[in-house]
Amino acid sequence: MSVWQFGFQGFDPADEGRREALCTLGNGYFATRGAAPESTADDVHYPGTYLAGCYNRLTTQVAGRAVEDESLVNAPNWLLLTFRVDDGPWFDLRRVEVLDHEQELDLERGILVRRLRFRDDGGRTTRVVQRRFVHMSAPHLAGLDTALVAEDWSGRITFRCGIDGRVTNSGVARYHALDSQHLTDHHTFQPAPDTVVLHTRTSQSRVRIAEAARARVFVDGEPVDVAHTLIQQNDLIAHDITVHLDQRSEARIEKIIALRTSRDPATSEPVVEVVDEARCAPGFDELCRSHALAWARLHREFHCGLSMSEEAQRSVRLHLFHLLQTVSPNSSDLDVGVPARGLHGEAYRGHVFWDELFVLPTLTLRRPRLARALLMYRYRRLDRARRAAAEAGLPGAMFPWQSGSNGREESQQLHLNPRSGRWLPDHTHLQRHVGIAIAHNIHHYHRATGDDEFRDEFGAEMLLEITRFFAALAHYDRSRDRYVIRGVVGPDEYHTAYPGREDPGIDNNAYTNVMTAWLCRTAAQVLHELPAERHHQLVEQLDLRHGEIDRWKRIAQRMYVPFHGDGIISQFEGYNQLDELDWDGYRQRYGDIHRLDRILEAEGDDPNRYQASKQADVLMLFYLLSAEELAGLLDGLGYPMPTGTIPANIEYYLQRTSHGSTLSAVVHAWVLARSHRHRALEFFDHALAADVHDTQRGTTSEGIHLAAMSGSIDLLQRCFAGIEVRDGALRLNPQWPTELGDLELTLRYRGQPLAITVTGRTATVRTAPGHARPPITCACGDRTVLLGAGETARFSLEHRPWQDDST
Ligand code: BGC
Repeated sequence: MSVWQFGFQGFDPADEGRREALCTLGNGYFATRGAAPESTADDVHYPGTYLAGCYNRLTTQVAGRAVEDESLVNAPNWLLLTFRVDDGPWFDLRRVEVLDHEQELDLERGILVRRLRFRDDGGRTTRVVQRRFVHMSAPHLAGLDTALVAEDWSGRITFRCGIDGRVTNSGVARYHALDSQHLTDHHTFQPAPDTVVLHTRTSQSRVRIAEAARARVFVDGEPVDVAHTLIQQNDLIAHDITVHLDQRSEARIEKIIALRTSRDPATSEPVVEVVDEARCAPGFDELCRSHALAWARLHREFHCGLSMSEEAQRSVRLHLFHLLQTVSPNSSDLDVGVPARGLHGEAYRGHVFWDELFVLPTLTLRRPRLARALLMYRYRRLDRARRAAAEAGLPGAMFPWQSGSNGREESQQLHLNPRSGRWLPDHTHLQRHVGIAIAHNIHHYHRATGDDEFRDEFGAEMLLEITRFFAALAHYDRSRDRYVIRGVVGPDEYHTAYPGREDPGIDNNAYTNVMTAWLCRTAAQVLHELPAERHHQLVEQLDLRHGEIDRWKRIAQRMYVPFHGDGIISQFEGYNQLDELDWDGYRQRYGDIHRLDRILEAEGDDPNRYQASKQADVLMLFYLLSAEELAGLLDGLGYPMPTGTIPANIEYYLQRTSHGSTLSAVVHAWVLARSHRHRALEFFDHALAADVHDTQRGTTSEGIHLAAMSGSIDLLQRCFAGIEVRDGALRLNPQWPTELGDLELTLRYRGQPLAITVTGRTATVRTAPGHARPPITCACGDRTVLLGAGETARFSLEHRPWQDDST
């Protein structure tokens, strides 16, 4: 198997969910799980098709409360394709003798191939090859091609090919008590003898979804003109197509589908469009070719040449593949955010969290327009965030922890602990730090791209409104002569309250507080840097007073940060007074303690009682800010940072973290990279394994972990290769682990396509030849070089000491 191939041998019902998620095909507009085309949702299979940004709300009575949830909707299943021999039963993998079964994801061309050989009850041996794509440059089209060979029999073969609208959102067991019927008002019809259409709408958001499927049949490569018998219900439509097969002959059915919704740009009416598109679409092979070309272009833009182990290379390619299937050039004109679990399953109901913090850096340096589009998802919801802040009695913008259609807070109010079976109040929405992540993303996008237009028109306004909110969240505590923030939740979701205290939230989460100081400082600076006219407009429009900006500056100097012991930044005030957990005891008793919160709750205990974190919280500071930036900030706050602070904090929290979120591995790899290379590489491996090996046990089947996938790529580029954009220059500070071989990357910086190679502490930057583009500034160590088109610069930090205690 090449590093561009990812696949599974055999049929393992228990593993099918993970395989379906990992074999999902998508194009940023929609994605379809790698489910068997003949399957319907049951205890093994879960066909799911999700359209980016297509949400619906339903209300259910849970634990005596009416709970409204918004979910990314499972659209009608366009895969439906099954067959039978003579008058035998419809094909079912579990009712035949499977001789061979293989799924192979071609990461290069974006094609999923399934090869299958089986013997049925009648002793007939049949070989089937299915190929499918979700088109990368014709985002409303997908195709499924099924070739079936009668190895040792002859007879009638009937294909059933159509669209199944009987789907619900029932892919996550924990949500089974919740209403799941999002689609209503189904209609079907046959616009042409070879085409069927199903249209429906979401019950509350009233998004109309239309799908058309065109089927053409070939015997031994020749098209055959056979009758299509219509099977029609309101919520399912298909054609039964029968052909005669001689022994060793091949019947092939080629299914092309078109999919649209009433949300799409350039759409008159979705049904009209899909009928037209299905009629005009070329054949399967031609579509495959244009699809592969679109992927080839993306692979060039996101080229990441590696010489590490084949398994690691394959995982990196798989991660890039799924990233680009979730958000792609097709997303740029859509109003969509970054769903935490991709478009690959129903966990977290397709919501958008702070995870774009881990996703944007990979996109910004290659497809800035896409990164900008994802930031615009937030801008369009700025008013909603303003309203949320106002309802909380605060000025500025309070972005929701979980966001969906319109930017309302979509966090669940109750969650089910599957271990105990109890529904529990959920306070994770108090993670106000999501606003800081948005501000950070805006700032970094601007730094990397120099897109002044975005900053001036949209970014600055969001950043100022977010700052305004955080500045108001901070209260002046006279006794300390410092600003404090009470009643929030930090990135570590195990701590949502103090034991014994009724009100949820914890006080002075160090991450939130330090980043608020960063925010206040950055906002004042951005305001200062705006062109005079825009500055005045914004000040007027937002009614920003001098006093308010002065307060930001004071907060940037007097924010409270809790410490304990010898320079340990307390995750929040009082963290060190919590009990220590018996980590070894729990590991011995439970083995896998990733989800310690669920274990403790099921025992009648409470994670809030312990110095135990789900994921990096304090360490996020070292992830987002360079050591110099952080030292500068803390110094400005009057907390000088002695040498040794960072390693001491890393050690302290490493011992107290269960890594219950896949983000944790990314952050830990990052913060360890410059001091403990081997440990960093272990965490890098964890990030690569998160979905491939489903390390959070059973969660991958519910959707991939997009931030960990993208974060693993970012580790290569910004962390190990040390590529960052700062002070108007592309800076390189490579600490590339030699055990990973060499790295080759393509990036786009300030409009200039770049090829970068890194090995150890040396790097080469080559700009693409071409029209005169303004030269770019590259810096490494003390050397700064101006690079025009078609030029190359070589840098080496070889003579610098390699700070590494692991060798
Ligand atoms: C993590 C969050 C993350 C969310 C979605 C949770 O498990 O704790 O930090 O945003 O998953 O990925």
